[in-house]
Amino acid sequence: MLLLATSILAIASGTTFARAGPLSRPAKFDWSSTKALVAFGDSYTYVQGTHGHQNFSFIGDQFNLAYDAETLLSNKIVQNQTATAEGGPNWVEYLTNCGVHKGLTSPQHCKKQLWDFAFAGADISTEYTPLHHNFTVSLVDQINQFKQYGHPALQHNLPGFKQDKTLIALWIGINDINDSAKYAVDFPAFYKNLTDTLFTSVETLYSMGYRSYLFMNLPPLDRTPGNQAKSNPSPNATQVGWYNAALADHAAAFAEKHKGAQVMLFDAHTRLAAMLDEPRKYGIVNTTNFCAGYDQPDIAVEYEKYGCPTSLGRYFWFNSGHMTSHVHEVLAWEVERWLQV
Ligand SMILES: *[C@@H]1O[C@H](CO)[C@@H](O)[C@H](O)[C@H]1NC(C)=O
Ligand SMILES: *[C@@H]1O[C@H](CO)[C@@H](O)[C@H](O)[C@H]1NC(C)=O
Ligand SMILES: *[C@@H]1O[C@H](CO)[C@@H](O)[C@H](O)[C@H]1NC(C)=O
Ligand SMILES: *[C@@H]1O[C@H](CO)[C@@H](O)[C@H](O)[C@H]1NC(C)=O
Ligand SMILES: *[C@@H]1O[C@H](CO)[C@@H](O)[C@H](O)[C@H]1NC(C)=O
Ligand SMILES: *[C@@H]1O[C@H](CO)[C@@H](O)[C@H](O)[C@H]1NC(C)=O
Ligand SMILES: *[C@@H]1O[C@H](CO)[C@@H](O)[C@H](O)[C@H]1NC(C)=O
Repeated sequence: MLLLATSILAIASGTTFARAGPLSRPAKFDWSSTKALVAFGDSYTYVQGTHGHQNFSFIGDQFNLAYDAETLLSNKIVQNQTATAEGGPNWVEYLTNCGVHKGLTSPQHCKKQLWDFAFAGADISTEYTPLHHNFTVSLVDQINQFKQYGHPALQHNLPGFKQDKTLIALWIGINDINDSAKYAVDFPAFYKNLTDTLFTSVETLYSMGYRSYLFMNLPPLDRTPGNQAKSNPSPNATQVGWYNAALADHAAAFAEKHKGAQVMLFDAHTRLAAMLDEPRKYGIVNTTNFCAGYDQPDIAVEYEKYGCPTSLGRYFWFNSGHMTSHVHEVLAWEVERWLQV
């Protein structure tokens, strides 16, 4: 079953794309009985853990992939100004309401537990783009690491953990499309290859018994502050549309192959574009730039000192490539409302 946000067809402006298999009506996915969210991805999704690589992960890094159950289960989500890439809680924290409050949160103590293996700066695979740092864990490696360490730890050592009460969330491709924007390739074919690799990893998750999947498509990355200032954005809207079309095709094919699975593709692109188009509806006044002092310790109150006319929460962009925590909160609320349909 494939549950798709409305207006996904509008995302690939100027392009048309075929789908593998027909779209079905929204699946009956039960968010209210979901007990855990297991997340993979990049800086948009990563949360800081007390056993993580500072500024990059909840647990471990490429040089420290192994961990035991005790380390995972005693790990805590950190919430403070530098514990996400947004200066505050991000979409998975808001969605689960796990780790939103300042200080430390044990995922086990959340009503909806957040087990977040996203790594800041991750791309899908080194097959296509180089690691941002030598300690970066790519999406493919996040899932291999989860198979080897995270999944057995949760399954055998966390009371009440069940695959059928778990939603897998994946948001990836943001770094990939940026890092490869200037490649001399046939982009639709390249993005198909990227998403082929992504779904090979998703099949690995499926083989471990997970049946519910939430995919997020690419934001309008052609509208970052840097790109708005250019006559030729990179990536441009066509590239973002091609990537999102490849993702939609793969999600549909995956749903077709696994009829019992709940496959959900949230059209983050359309929702975020709507926020950029009508920011005031969301309490946002600045969509064109970011506040230069975004990472300063006193930014919450002293924004004017950094030449910013308004507080961070009224900006769409937190910095050159990330949205503010406020935008993540709005997005999470929209995702939650949609999951409850
Ligand atoms: C983490 O990022 C913050 C800025 O967001 C920086 O001030 C700090 O030095 C970084 N910490 C490490 C260990 O890299
Ligand atoms: C946030 O918490 C981390 C601990 O993981 C700490 O290293 C960092 O200094 C804290 N940052 C702020 C701004 O309090
Ligand atoms: C990782 O890269 C850093 C510099 O970027 C280097 O100092 C370090 O030796 C590298 N680590 C390994 C294990 O290659
Ligand atoms: C995509 O993958 C196929 C099969 O591995 C390869 O032949 C082709 O060159 C790739 N295309 C791009 C644009 O990377
Ligand atoms: C965007 O970039 C791609 C790849 O370079 C190019 O084929 C396409 O024509 C560009 N689209 C626009 C609207 O400039
Ligand atoms: C948007 O933010 C930038 C950077 O803080 C600022 O220079 C600009 O004046 C702001 N624009 C509006 C319309 O407020
Ligand atoms: C995108 O890549 C360019 C280099 O090609 C880099 O300067 C920029 O910071 C990157 N943007 C984001 C949002 O990561």
